[in-house]
Amino acid sequence: MPDIYHPSENSDDVAIETIFTKIVNLNDSDVVVDVGSGEGNVIEWIYNNTSANKIIGYEVSIETFNISVKRVSKNARLEIINQDIFENFPYNANIFYLYNPFSSFYVNKFADNILKLKHKCLIIYYNPVFLHIFKDRCEFIINEFEVMDGIPWVAIIEVSSK
Ligand SMILES: C[S@@+](CC[C@H](N)C(=O)[O-])C[C@H]1O[C@@H](n2cnc3c(N)ncnc32)[C@H](O)[C@@H]1O
Repeated sequence: MPDIYHPSENSDDVAIETIFTKIVNLNDSDVVVDVGSGEGNVIEWIYNNTSANKIIGYEVSIETFNISVKRVSKNARLEIINQDIFENFPYNANIFYLYNPFSSFYVNKFADNILKLKHKCLIIYYNPVFLHIFKDRCEFIINEFEVMDGIPWVAIIEVSSK
């Protein structure tokens, strides 16, 4: 598979709603990170529609970050950080959402970081072009869900030992 990714697309709105109403239920103990939060559509939806305790978006591009801060304002539950997530990895989070932010090299690095977590976590991987990286490692348990016809599917990934 080529080392492709989709650095600037937003998740489909219907997909976001379907994922967080039918596939994953967030509760008030969850710390959710959007890994490459883009224009902020995912974190905005989670903020407005779930009881997640804390929602954090990491966005490395200053231009895209600036669009997102116009869309959502920072407060005690919501934070957007203009930083490469690998410079300050959020080891306290338990839910990680990703929509193809990076190439296979960094997906591998992301998987390495996830395995360092001491607590249970869930990775929500939308349109998972590098899912094979998780499939190739025996530590991960993967469930794949169809969102709806014409919209990419989502993989929910857990770590088996936790
Ligand atoms: C495909 S967009 C997804 C945006 C949003 N999460 C969504 O689903 O609508 C991926 C975003 O990840 C950002 N990104 C890529 N590598 C990153 C990194 N190492 N740290 C933080 N953000 C990153 C890109 O700049 C891009 O805005």
